[in-house]
Amino acid sequence: MALLEVDDLSVTFARRNQRAVHAVDGVSFSVDAGEVVGLVGESGCGKSVTSLAIMGLLPKQPGLRVGGKAVFDGTDLLQLDDRSRRDIRGRDIAMIFQDPLSSLNPVIPIGLQVTEVLTRHRGMKGDAAAKEAAQLLDRVGIPDPKRRLKEYPHQLSGGMRQRALIAMAVACQPRLLIADEPTTALDVTIQAQILELLKDLVRDSGTALVMITHDLGVVAGMCDTINVLYGGRVVETARRRPLFREPRHPYTVGLLGSVPRLDAGRGEKLNPIPGSVRDLLPWADGCAFAPRCTRRVDACVGQPPELVLAHDGRSYRCVNPAPVPGLTPAEAAPVTVAGAADVPVADEPPAPAAGPVPAPREEEKP
Ligand SMILES: Nc1ncnc2c1ncn2[C@@H]1O[C@H](COP(=O)(O)OP(=O)(O)OP(=O)(O)O)[C@@H](O)[C@H]1O
Ligand code: SF4
Ligand SMILES: [Mg+2]
Repeated sequence: MALLEVDDLSVTFARRNQRAVHAVDGVSFSVDAGEVVGLVGESGCGKSVTSLAIMGLLPKQPGLRVGGKAVFDGTDLLQLDDRSRRDIRGRDIAMIFQDPLSSLNPVIPIGLQVTEVLTRHRGMKGDAAAKEAAQLLDRVGIPDPKRRLKEYPHQLSGGMRQRALIAMAVACQPRLLIADEPTTALDVTIQAQILELLKDLVRDSGTALVMITHDLGVVAGMCDTINVLYGGRVVETARRRPLFREPRHPYTVGLLGSVPRLDAGRGEKLNPIPGSVRDLLPWADGCAFAPRCTRRVDACVGQPPELVLAHDGRSYRCVNPAPVPGLTPAEAAPVTVAGAADVPVADEPPAPAAGPVPAPREEEKP
């Protein structure tokens, strides 16, 4: 059984005198112990709302409706009361955000914030907690940790603050870490260091990681399995190698075509996706990506595309996916499935860490 099984998660923000926002609209994915799973997509596709709903951290505003399940180790997190949720958060599941300043208390020294976590979740106190806090800061690469423990968040650089936040997240040895754009606010070299740190932590401790990002380079370098989101739904799920080599969903193809590659020929142009994420068709009326899709056919509108399980174990929501050359008719025939959380993702050893984002094959570009 998966460590986390998100099944048909939906989050709606109803607004007075305006159309409701279906921020998350039937999202399903699973995370195995020790696995690194990516949630990727353009701004506004529902990545953060998905993770906040799982963690029970959505703002309690009027009109908020959350549905579906998020089962962590047999417990549906969405059914827990606030107190039980708080206990799981921190002890079993930790989260890091893009902006560490907003997650750290500005008036409490870093050391006290780390030891508080150790006291609360591991019962450590006094010298033992202080020693462990220094070791944690050392482990996340903060030099001179004893001195840094006495400093306040504003005295640390952005990269150091993110490291301190990661130290707090791993202090309680969580089984699942959710990282929402953890490096977006940092410059490129610091980004790479933080990503390496996260990779090391996952490898050394067997912690599962959900990596939320709009950056396909991050996904290519880290994730075992990737879920591509569009308009609040998962439109393609695949292991890393097949996703980058042979993307099937036109939106995934578009995402890959719109990032620069080091191996691109001179003068080769980027292929940005036409239109913007705001050009959404409501899923009830057909494929939300239809207004921007270059592979659109008549069957794309009228009803939402069903989830399809492909021969190689990946799944996608599309009636006219990019072809994979060389498939036998039996392999090309899709199996349509109703649910999604229990769709198996074909197993394969992770590819070696990719540098630049690999190109989709030429013949697969729409
Ligand atoms: N509290 C809220 N009230 C109303 N709408 C919201 C609220 N929070 C998010 N939304 C809307 O939900 C949708 C999904 O937002 P979300 O923050 O999950 O996007 P995202 O994929 O994380 O984007 P980004 O890459 O910019 O962080 C957006 O349309 C957003 O405007
Ligand atoms: S269902 Fe149609 S519009 Fe949607 S991505 Fe597939 S081809 Fe494009
Ligand atoms: Mg976000």
